[in-house]
Amino acid sequence: MYSIGHPDPGTPIRISTERVTLMIDGVSVNVPKGTSVMRAAAKAGVNVPKLCATDSIEAFGSCRLCLVQIEGRRGYPASCTTLVEPGMKVTTQSGKLAQLRRGVMELYISDHPLDCLTCPANGNCELQEMAGQVGLREVRYGYAGENHLEAKKDESNPYFTFDPSKCIVCSRCVRACEETQGTFALTVLGRGFDSKIAAGNTDFLSSECVSCGACVQACPTSTLMEKSIEERGQPDHVVATTCAYCGVGCSFLAEMKGNEVVRMVPDKAGGANHGHSCVKGRFAWGYATHKDRITKPMIREKISDPWREVSWDEAIGFAATKLRAIQAKYGPASIGAITSSRCTNEETFLVQKLVRAVFGNNNVDTCARVCHSPTGYGLKTTLGESAGTQNFDSVDQTDVMIVIGANPTDAHPVFASRMKKRLREGAGLIVIDPRKTDLVRQPHVAAQYHLQLRPGTNVAVINSLAHVIVTEGMLREQYIADRCDLVEYEKWKAFIASAENSPEAMEAVTGVPAATIRGAARLYGQARNGAIYYGLGVTEHSQGSTMVMGIANLAMATGNIGREGVGVNPLRGQNNVQGACDMGSFPHELPGYRHVSDPAVRTLFGDAWGVTILAEPGLRIPNMFDAALDGSFKGLYVQGEDIAQSDPDTHHVLKALSSMECVIVQDLFLIETAKYAHVFFPGATFLEKDGTFTNAERRINRVRKVMPPVCGLADWEITVRLAEEMGVPMQYDHPSQIMDEIAKLTPTFHGVSYEKLDRLGSIQWPCNDAAPEGTPTMHEQQFVRGKGRFVITRYVATTERTNRDYPMILTTGRILSQYNVGAQTRRTKNTTWHAEDLLELHPHDAEFRGIVDGDLVAVTSRAGETVLRAKITERMQPGVVYTTFHYPESGANVVTTENSDWATNCPEYKVTAVQVRKTNQRSAWQYEFDENLQEQVSLLPGGDAAE
Ligand code: SF4
Ligand code: SF4
Ligand code: SF4
Ligand code: FES
Repeated sequence: MYSIGHPDPGTPIRISTERVTLMIDGVSVNVPKGTSVMRAAAKAGVNVPKLCATDSIEAFGSCRLCLVQIEGRRGYPASCTTLVEPGMKVTTQSGKLAQLRRGVMELYISDHPLDCLTCPANGNCELQEMAGQVGLREVRYGYAGENHLEAKKDESNPYFTFDPSKCIVCSRCVRACEETQGTFALTVLGRGFDSKIAAGNTDFLSSECVSCGACVQACPTSTLMEKSIEERGQPDHVVATTCAYCGVGCSFLAEMKGNEVVRMVPDKAGGANHGHSCVKGRFAWGYATHKDRITKPMIREKISDPWREVSWDEAIGFAATKLRAIQAKYGPASIGAITSSRCTNEETFLVQKLVRAVFGNNNVDTCARVCHSPTGYGLKTTLGESAGTQNFDSVDQTDVMIVIGANPTDAHPVFASRMKKRLREGAGLIVIDPRKTDLVRQPHVAAQYHLQLRPGTNVAVINSLAHVIVTEGMLREQYIADRCDLVEYEKWKAFIASAENSPEAMEAVTGVPAATIRGAARLYGQARNGAIYYGLGVTEHSQGSTMVMGIANLAMATGNIGREGVGVNPLRGQNNVQGACDMGSFPHELPGYRHVSDPAVRTLFGDAWGVTILAEPGLRIPNMFDAALDGSFKGLYVQGEDIAQSDPDTHHVLKALSSMECVIVQDLFLIETAKYAHVFFPGATFLEKDGTFTNAERRINRVRKVMPPVCGLADWEITVRLAEEMGVPMQYDHPSQIMDEIAKLTPTFHGVSYEKLDRLGSIQWPCNDAAPEGTPTMHEQQFVRGKGRFVITRYVATTERTNRDYPMILTTGRILSQYNVGAQTRRTKNTTWHAEDLLELHPHDAEFRGIVDGDLVAVTSRAGETVLRAKITERMQPGVVYTTFHYPESGANVVTTENSDWATNCPEYKVTAVQVRKTNQRSAWQYEFDENLQEQVSLLPGGDAAE
């Protein structure tokens, strides 16, 4: 398949300072050394016919359609596998070449069903185009002989089909699966005429395939074809936009037919993904038109009342009146808002502005509170900026990577493919994780060291690694002397060198053999370029912020910050975690991470908005819940976030929500929080609005409206209308004006505008006069805070202890096919792969408890109990169990506790002491959940109770 908007010069780009000049059909062309003749020809404006070559994978040279003549060379070399040489004279068109190409095409077509008019690829098929290009007029061989025309179609994958009768065995799919995705799910079986493509032993669905779509993208025929194209036909126009799932921030071309999406194609021009995708962004967009979408505003007085569908005016008026009445009765600080990392920068900026300029307090927080708030704190303290230091491309220069508490093949799949590529090229890998994640061992990838620590002992491990660096003479003293605060450094060095931090002393705590720690430290410490990537397994701990600072310490000590190939890189969970934080969604910070206690900053924003900004930080999410329960916090506006499912200790959260007088939920579906709401504002999907997302590498990407919002308003318009109704008008006609305001008020965004984003494609902040096109690598000359600051990171055990009653540790995470609370992905065919959350446990633990695969098991903690189905796997270490939290009825957060990071209150999701036992029925909470769901659905317009 190739796609409108995707020119294909046939072979991958080469980067080299050495240039080569040659002549192609009499045209002089200058290209980097290592470029293929085919790609050079494309630059000269000549499209050489091709079938087995495409620019996303290395040339293979099997189809022989791209033959050319080269002066002084014998025969007809394939232009895709022949590299340019200085002075080369290439001829791409001649009578002989035309004859040879027609002969090749004739052979292909003689084993291809000529049903072009009814083929889904009609009009967008490379085989068809090449037949036209080479001037094929007849096929002499006929279909009487042996052929593959009756081969059976594989429809097992929910999103694409494989029709071998149309396969030309060019192996583009096989190579895409290997090179681009790194999964190695496909093979060419047999030889010559008998060769065929196979996925596993039976079909795609039961193979290793992870449904990334790279093979479908690479296929030049309709052999691998999206079902959406089979059903709806080829698109008529294309809009470039950004995936709304994870923090990789892949760029996509939404291929449209009128207002209907027919296919999402990863954009080759995307700075984060370079034309690759995962199953979520590529295929799981059907939720946008799912029947469960709530499309009309609704209100009710009490959460036990039926919902009433009303006009936007009435809903917004109702909400505004309620919020003002609450403030009049309980005081200005009695209301607040929660922003979402799933919303755009512009939307989150407006919500925090609403809180500060209209509500008149700082009670705004974001879901990053429960994921990456320790990243903000830890990196700001040590390096001076609350963001990752690199771009994704940087991994190509990395010699050793450490992956801590992150599972990129599931949570950041497109970047994981980049990592795996670099690992296959020979980079070293250290994985620090309680589970054997996929990265530990994959086809052609294996970690040199897997530090399978006990959950909750991250800081002990990072300190031990640093201890080895310090005591075995691997410090980069000159780098430290030039760039770091030496007073703090000396204190840290003395602390870390002390015997208490040695791997031998910590072995009993971490469970990781000292020799393994020493080996890993040497691998990283001696690397030319060492990079650290980490995820929520670092932050969601009682020492989350300490661990982030420990990581920064290690990187500074080894001189691994400030250039390509190194750095400290938080892998952000949701699409706009970075942006939600950047936009001032925290109760103590205005946009650009500036503290509300700074009078100059307050004056800047106060003057711009014509208000007085309070100097006191507002409430964090957990404080909002506590204040709700003590009666001082009564009104909450929640934009795009499902706190009732995603926040820890569900019982506590639900009690808090139930005690409020006005909960406003703005979302796509009747999410868990909406069951406790008095106002429902129907939100818009990313396909229905304009804006920007900022990914994990600080890359600001445009989100573009491809269809009108089904509920009539985009999310930013709802916030503007609410502000107006509360008496403070906000004047915007388009989100670009909101970005202009962000740029005016935020130094790191001074140079950002929609015009520039459209021109450059994307921009990594800081973008200002000093860096007009953005900053791929941070801290290049010096740290943003001036001198890098080493911080003492003493290991303190969590108070969440195992004992006889709760002898195991539960840790939570994500899975590839689902996203966060699952509200979107559960409404797609991704449920094919993950239809329920499972409890993973080690075979020893299962045997001890008499549990077999698929049994119902009760998981009980000090906070609550839920029941899940067991999955027995050696991925787990004995004593540790694991689950995901994508289904509300699983109740993973019924079990998690209120423990949190000492600095930021980020919940300690990764460590909950539990008991696990076999059971035959669901938990009491799950029965309650079912009842509540039924009741709330009946309260919807059209439900039983609403009639
Ligand atoms: S499925 Fe497509 S890409 Fe793969 S070998 Fe067949 S024609 Fe080529
Ligand atoms: S969809 Fe991706 S993982 Fe599956 S076979 Fe194709 S390239 Fe491989
Ligand atoms: S979910 Fe993440 S990796 Fe997958 S396509 Fe979207 S942004 Fe890319
Ligand atoms: S495109 Fe060059 S050999 Fe197939």
